[in-house]
Amino acid sequence: MRLVFASPLILAAGLDRHGYLLRSGAALGLGAVETGSHWTTSAQPLPLHPLAHAGTHVDAGRPLLAAGSGPAALHGLSLAKPPGLDWAEAGTAYWRAVRAWHRSADYVVLNPGRGGPAAAEFADLVAALSARCARLVRARRLALVVKLPATWIEPAGRAALACRFVAAGADGLLVSAEGAAAGVCRRLAELREAVGPAIGLVSVGGIDSVPEARARLRAGANLVQVHRAALRSGPCATDLLARIAALRSQG
Ligand SMILES: Cc1cc2nc3c(=O)[nH]c(=O)nc-3n(C[C@H](O)[C@H](O)[C@H](O)COP(=O)(O)O)c2cc1C
Repeated sequence: MRLVFASPLILAAGLDRHGYLLRSGAALGLGAVETGSHWTTSAQPLPLHPLAHAGTHVDAGRPLLAAGSGPAALHGLSLAKPPGLDWAEAGTAYWRAVRAWHRSADYVVLNPGRGGPAAAEFADLVAALSARCARLVRARRLALVVKLPATWIEPAGRAALACRFVAAGADGLLVSAEGAAAGVCRRLAELREAVGPAIGLVSVGGIDSVPEARARLRAGANLVQVHRAALRSGPCATDLLARIAALRSQG
């Protein structure tokens, strides 16, 4: 993904929608915070940048300075199509959101969401969006990550599917094991083998301990995401996050 993460730990989408932790997240050990998912249909033109609510300097561009010393957590901008919007309009909606909000982001995550399109249809959308993103005027290229739901990854054919998204322009794949944790490491290893070392593999779903995070990284993920364990752990959450963050990324 041509990005340098301070640690292999990412706060998964849906937990910090407005990026309150972008400034202080590095102190928790976070390599990145995924804001959103932000819906992509607002009245034209899209009004406030989602991060404006967090009081961050969204127009100042990267990098934001961390509250302490050291680099800030990177910003992944997670985008999903609202359930009500027809898929025929989805490509335009994702693009409007990227164009309006990309400046504070290091990478964008395209999430097909629940009840989304067929994988092949989504790959076509990613290809069109990738071509448009390449023309964005930025100091650094915007990396594109595609979230792959467990229902796309569980069946045989996952390797070909992953390669199809890479061919469409994905720099990284966010591989969800939500509700499908059994066999996740085997599937990750297979995907790593298929896409090669240059593609970022991010594992999410059921990571609730250091051994589980370590197993995902060893299987081939470069990065891991945590959501519910960070909520469930209560006062121990910062300790769990710090110990996962201390693990070494595989690439
Ligand atoms: C309350 C809640 C809200 C979520 N919202 C989003 C979202 O907006 N976009 C997204 O891509 N994933 C969302 N997720 C999924 C998480 O990012 C993550 O993929 C999922 O919870 C599995 O990780 P976990 O087992 O660590 O919780 C949400 C999850 C929860 C529990």
